[in-house]
Amino acid sequence: RHPGWPARLGPLKVGAGVVGLRPIRLRDAGDWSRVRLRDQAHLEKWEPTAPGPWRDRNGFWSWPPQWMALRGLARRGQCLPLVITVDGEFAGQITVGNVIRASLRSAWVGYWVSSTAVGGGVATAAVALLVDHALTLGGLHRIEATVRPENEPSIRVLTKAGFRQEGLFQRYLDVAGDWRDHFCFAITAEETGPGLVARLVQQGRAERV
Ligand code: ACO
Repeated sequence: RHPGWPARLGPLKVGAGVVGLRPIRLRDAGDWSRVRLRDQAHLEKWEPTAPGPWRDRNGFWSWPPQWMALRGLARRGQCLPLVITVDGEFAGQITVGNVIRASLRSAWVGYWVSSTAVGGGVATAAVALLVDHALTLGGLHRIEATVRPENEPSIRVLTKAGFRQEGLFQRYLDVAGDWRDHFCFAITAEETGPGLVARLVQQGRAERV
C-alpha cells in the first residue's frame, strides 16, 4: 500500500450539491463514456491531443484500459485517480499524477467536471479535498497545476482553492492539436494554513456535511 491510496474524500456541500471523491472503478465505463461523448464540445479544447476521433477515444471500451493503467500507477504510488461525484452521481474526474517522491515530493493535479454540474463549486471543492489529502496522508510537499491562459473557469478554480501563479510555460503541452502556452500554478504544504477545505468553509464557499 502506498501513502494516501486508496482514498475516499468528502463529503463537502457546495452550490451544485454534495461533492465526494472515490477511486475510479471498472464499472464507471458507462457513466464515463456517456458524459464524455455528450460533452465533447465542453472538454476537447482543453485536453491533450490524442490520435483518433473523440467518439472512438471516449467509447465504453476505451475505459477499461485507461482504468487499468491508472490503477496500476496508483498501486505503485505514482498517481491518485479519483471520480468526482455530486449527490452520489458520476460528475467528472480529478487526478494527482506524476508523483515524484524523495527530495522533490511533488505532483500535478488535473480535473474535468460534467457540463451538467459546472458553475456550482464542484471543481474547487474537489481540488481542495484532494490537495489537502495529497499534502498530508499522501506525503507530498508541492502540487502544481498547469492551465491555458484562455481557460478562465479553471484559473478561477485554482485561485479560489488557494494556488499561486508562478509563471508561464511557453509551448508547454500538446493540447487540442497544437503546442499551447500554460500558466504554472502551485501550492506547497507551508501555504495551506488550516487546510484548503477549512478555508473554503470559512469563506462560506462550502459546508461540511
Ligand atoms: N470566465 C470567467 N470565469 C468563469 C467563466 C468564464 N467564461 N465561466 C465560469 N467561470 C467561473 C465561475 O463563475 C466560477 O467562479 P465563481 O465561483 O467565482 O463564480 C468558476 O469559474 C468555476 O468554479 P467551480 O464552480 O468550482 O468549477 P466547475 O465545477 O464549474 O468546474 C472546470 C470548472 C473544471 C474548469 C469545468 O468547467 C471543466 O470541466 N472544463 C473543461 C475541462 C477543463 O478545462 N479542465 C481543467 C483543465 S486545467 C487543469 O486541470 C489544471
